[in-house]
Amino acid sequence: MKIIIIGATTGIGRSLAELYISQGHEVTITGRRTELLEALKNSFPNQTIHTSTMDVADITKTRQTIQLLADTYGGFDLIIINAGVGFPKASFEEEIKTIDINARGFVGIAQWAYEYFKTKGGGQLVGVSSLAAVRSSPYAPEYHATKAFVSSYMEGLRLRSKKYKHEITVTDIRPGFVDTPMTKQNKGMFWVATPEKAAKQIAHAIAAKKNVAYITKRYVFLAILMKLLPEWLLAKIF
Ligand SMILES: NC(=O)c1ccc[n+]([C@@H]2O[C@H](COP(=O)([O-])OP(=O)(O)OC[C@H]3O[C@@H](n4cnc5c(N)ncnc54)[C@H](OP(=O)(O)O)[C@@H]3O)[C@@H](O)[C@H]2O)c1
Repeated sequence: MKIIIIGATTGIGRSLAELYISQGHEVTITGRRTELLEALKNSFPNQTIHTSTMDVADITKTRQTIQLLADTYGGFDLIIINAGVGFPKASFEEEIKTIDINARGFVGIAQWAYEYFKTKGGGQLVGVSSLAAVRSSPYAPEYHATKAFVSSYMEGLRLRSKKYKHEITVTDIRPGFVDTPMTKQNKGMFWVATPEKAAKQIAHAIAAKKNVAYITKRYVFLAILMKLLPEWLLAKIF
């Protein structure tokens, strides 16, 4: 399979790239930090791996780059948009950056991917959203809002694919807590998964062509509970 992972330098994206590379797939890895992309590529000297440095916040350039990558490497069967940021106690500038990367950057690629697969006659698009998509929190409303946007956008693409028979699978991955650079400074985390365990479960959900998958699986129970909670009760928990 030909796979591109947007945001594969660290954490979940990197573990997912390592998993797919070790399974023999042809993987294109991307992110802002070229040296980390090259280090990952060099750790698998016998595999076909392509690297591309990109900042998803630069939407126009990113869309042009992905098109070029698809033309150069014979297309993609699976496109995984994993790039995302979250800032503890975000300033206004950091809130806007979160929107630029997690929401605007996501649409820049997801819209391209959908049109690409439509022309190709099918494919699978995967977005890494979050359990945070389900409800908001007092700590990072901007982060929750971007993930709710991402999950809603993917639901819309799924409905579009069904309605117009585009044969495009859209999988919404919603991790709970995963031990990565993004969560390093977090306190009070529970049910924390290693990125390797998360990657295994994500790859399984992708292969099963799930609509929505909670990572790890037990978070589905928390998601159901959170959806049901009235806001006054949610306020007491936080
Ligand atoms: N860890 C968790 O508990 C958790 C829970 C729920 C959801 N998630 C989601 O999972 C995804 C991966 O997060 P992670 O925990 O693995 O964190 P991470 O280790 O910080 O990884 C984030 C990845 O996104 C890339 N990225 C960030 N901004 C980018 C940009 N502007 N352009 C291109 N790439 C960019 C990073 O690469 P560069 O910095 O090199 O660009 C890196 O590869 C995120 O979408 C996050 O919201 C994580």
